Amino acid sequence: MAQRKPFVGGNWKMNLHHDQATALADALAAGFKDTDKVDVVVCPAFPYLRCVANHLKKAGSAIKVGAQDFYFQGDGAFTGEVSLAMLKDVGVSVVLVGHSERRHVIGETDVLINAKVRAALAAGMEVILCVGEKLEQREAGQTDAINLAQTYYGLAGVTAEQMSKITIAYEPVWAIGTGKTASTADAQNAHAAIRKALVSMYGQKVADTVRIQYGGSCKPSNAKELFGQTDIDGGLIGGAALKAEDFMGILNAAK
Ligand code: PGA
Repeated sequence: MAQRKPFVGGNWKMNLHHDQATALADALAAGFKDTDKVDVVVCPAFPYLRCVANHLKKAGSAIKVGAQDFYFQGDGAFTGEVSLAMLKDVGVSVVLVGHSERRHVIGETDVLINAKVRAALAAGMEVILCVGEKLEQREAGQTDAINLAQTYYGLAGVTAEQMSKITIAYEPVWAIGTGKTASTADAQNAHAAIRKALVSMYGQKVADTVRIQYGGSCKPSNAKELFGQTDIDGGLIGGAALKAEDFMGILNAAK
């Protein structure tokens, strides 16, 4: 089976203003040098993308900068939106798509999410496609059905060659920001089902190379066990990504 390099993302969401964001970037650049062992991305809010990218670059860090959102069209008359070309200008190389807060708070559909995935790949970005079931769906026994539907929809039209730029983040909605983490067995089962879906779409060889992150109340104390599961290749971290010490604890657990 292919060896997959762990990949950990810090999703800062609508948190951390300029001084906090740049201080965190500096602390991570100084404190985590093992980017040969773990791929790392941080996703600040739009106004700070450029300065966080500059701080990381100045420190010589290989930590990447990701955007939490964008619009799938090219530059044009789309008031309030940000294009992929603009994100590239300010040093972004990774984008999140389909995060549960965008699906369930902002109301993004699978159709829009798929358009974003395809546009981001066409623009040469790396994509973290987030999927995950809500609590009522888990309780109704629909966990795999929801995850697979979101995976199939999200990746519609994506070629096997493009899959090298795709990471899937499995984030059970009920675990995000709640302090409740999926059990390692439940998380591993969900990841294995997603990988099986990737096998049916792209074949075993490609599916074996795709990284699947876990997200949802991941912290230094539970990261090692989660990342030790066969199909868990790192994490997408919210709350625990806002403090250098916590995030570095998770990065070290991924090594
Ligand atoms: P959390 O968020 O770590 O705060 O649960 C994870 C995410 O939303 O990506």
